[in-house]
Amino acid sequence: MQTFSFNTTPDAIHSLAKHIIESAKACIETKGSFNLVLTGGNSPKMLYNILADQYKNEINWEAVYFFIGDERHVPSNHKDYNGLMARENLLNPLNIKEENIFLVNTSLNPQEAAEDYYARIVKHFNQAIINFDFTLLGMGTDAHTASIFPGTSICKINTKESIEAVFVEKLNSWRISFNATLINQSKEIAFLVFGKDKLEAFTSVQSHPNQLEYPASLIQGNVFWYTNFN
Ligand code: 6PG
Repeated sequence: MQTFSFNTTPDAIHSLAKHIIESAKACIETKGSFNLVLTGGNSPKMLYNILADQYKNEINWEAVYFFIGDERHVPSNHKDYNGLMARENLLNPLNIKEENIFLVNTSLNPQEAAEDYYARIVKHFNQAIINFDFTLLGMGTDAHTASIFPGTSICKINTKESIEAVFVEKLNSWRISFNATLINQSKEIAFLVFGKDKLEAFTSVQSHPNQLEYPASLIQGNVFWYTNFN
């Protein structure tokens, strides 16, 4: 696990963008593709804009496949749908073809949406292990990540990989999310965590590895933290 702390959010974002592009170049060179899991929320918007603008001509974006690590169970044209934010800030500006985009079909009920999404990803990986090349994650002030919130049915350890429908009481809403096991199979994982209000959760996660109380601590492996707590 490596932590990179920056004085400003733009500095953190530019550094993370560079990291993603370098990983993408290496993957595309060795295996002809790059499987990138996007995160929702507000933190990644600037990152997506920079990738779509400054790095538009840097790599062969046609070799990149895009996924979302979690989704709110709202219509795909709803302002809270993470896939819409990804389309507006990254996928549309880069003219990414639909066959390279894997989003959650929220016209299905939550359980069916989770099953359908998992089935499409299994097919993409040709029924082999689902090991994304790069997974982006945010973190909330309660140390949740993706839609793995404390006390929810998906917040478990030592389980097999899954994509689950999870009802989040505190939000009174359904989410569809990768579980920690699936996330941890990613070759690289990068958190982007910005804001004073997240420092306490960050500190708890760092000092309590693999603790259900702090879901982001369940994320293990080749993990990078890009932070700015000023
Ligand atoms: C979501 C995200 C969620 C997010 C954190 C941080 O669907 O909202 O996947 O896990 O990353 O809540 O959100 P911000 O970046 O907006 O602080």
